[in-house]
Amino acid sequence: MNKLVKSKELMAAKRKYLFEATHYAEPLLERGEGSMVYDIDGNNYLDLNAGQFCLIFGHNYEPFNQVVRNQLAKICHTNTGTLTPEILKAAEDMAGIHGGDLHKTIFLSTGSEANECALRFAKAYTKRNGVLAFDRAYHGLTLASQGSTMGGQYALPIVPQTFSVKTPDKYHLDQLTAEEDLSRCMEDLESKFHQYGDTIAAVIMEPVIGAGGMLPIPKEYLKLVRELCSRYGVLLIFDECQCGFGRCGNWFVYQDIDVVPDMVTSAKAMGMGFAVSAVTFSEKVAEKLEHGLTHFSSHQNDPLAAAIVSFVIEEIREKDLLKSNAVKGKQLLSAIEEVCGATQLLENPRGVGLMCAFDINDRILTDYRNESARFLSAMQENGVLLQAVRQGRTFRLLPSYYITEQEIEKLKSACMESVKALG
Ligand SMILES: Cc1ncc(COP(=O)(O)O)c(C=O)c1O
Repeated sequence: MNKLVKSKELMAAKRKYLFEATHYAEPLLERGEGSMVYDIDGNNYLDLNAGQFCLIFGHNYEPFNQVVRNQLAKICHTNTGTLTPEILKAAEDMAGIHGGDLHKTIFLSTGSEANECALRFAKAYTKRNGVLAFDRAYHGLTLASQGSTMGGQYALPIVPQTFSVKTPDKYHLDQLTAEEDLSRCMEDLESKFHQYGDTIAAVIMEPVIGAGGMLPIPKEYLKLVRELCSRYGVLLIFDECQCGFGRCGNWFVYQDIDVVPDMVTSAKAMGMGFAVSAVTFSEKVAEKLEHGLTHFSSHQNDPLAAAIVSFVIEEIREKDLLKSNAVKGKQLLSAIEEVCGATQLLENPRGVGLMCAFDINDRILTDYRNESARFLSAMQENGVLLQAVRQGRTFRLLPSYYITEQEIEKLKSACMESVKALG
């Protein structure tokens, strides 16, 4: 069992100066190495979310550190209107990993910023104001991205131009069968387009929902979205900030389902812990927008970000990580299937590549918020850091691409032990 003495003392003395924007975990971390992090009390933890899903090659990855050091010694930042060779190379590298005619990229800093930018350009392109988003979607918490997150329910004030549609969900959240749920969702979507199609600038969606419950959206549904967008002149934006950049076993999820959006946003994995995101536009859309609406942001097309992106792409290619993520994803999924098979209190193991999750059984554990907090703290005591979404009902796993079989075993045994804290 881990002891937290120094962490608790320091937190008690100093936390009053930090704005409490969220719940902060107790251990104060000092350093990381691979998938492990170490706190100031000398405890170690398996970090199953690679920071906030960003550290895809693990903590303190020396080849990455080297790239950062080299670029810092050259040039890390320029004025927004000035480029370096690294930026031109990174944009070309992005075109090399995207499909269709998604060939034009702008680099920004966070996922929210990328979505904000994509929506801004979609409105300019269509000269419309509406955005169609999903009730379980998470696109960030800046103004437009917030308006399309979770059906706009966290937008302050509510953004009126956002239309929310239900996410097709095969995990019986409405006690429907997958087929009934899907066909109802498809009808609902068609009717929204029928009613509002000519006022909507863009549909923004995650092809695999992250914070909303770790749910892959069915292929048929995505194909229908593409078809309706084309029919009504609406731009389709895929937010692959969480699921993209190799995590799900291909560069981007849309490449697996053969649906090509008009813009793709990416973030997290592409920066290996550094704040970099991107919007990639199709040639068709870019042609109409370039030299019209300008975009300026302090960290737009930074050379350091560009050098990092090129390194991440090269490492994924060289180490064949798309293939190994698919294989490791299966190992991770079978570990959580085993855990869920051993208890009725945990259920719905699922995953696409290294984006996996399982739920708490909220029919048995009706006080699921507290039960989930208990499970997470037992996991922490057993040396594993996990995150929960959907008010604690879903536990998500988005580890480093270099997670090992032993680490997957460690997750399994920590889960088996921690489930004893439930009920
Ligand atoms: C799918 C998705 N889009 C956008 C964002 C927002 O990214 P950021 O927190 O970097 O602004 C997130 C963050 O979790 C995300 O998961």
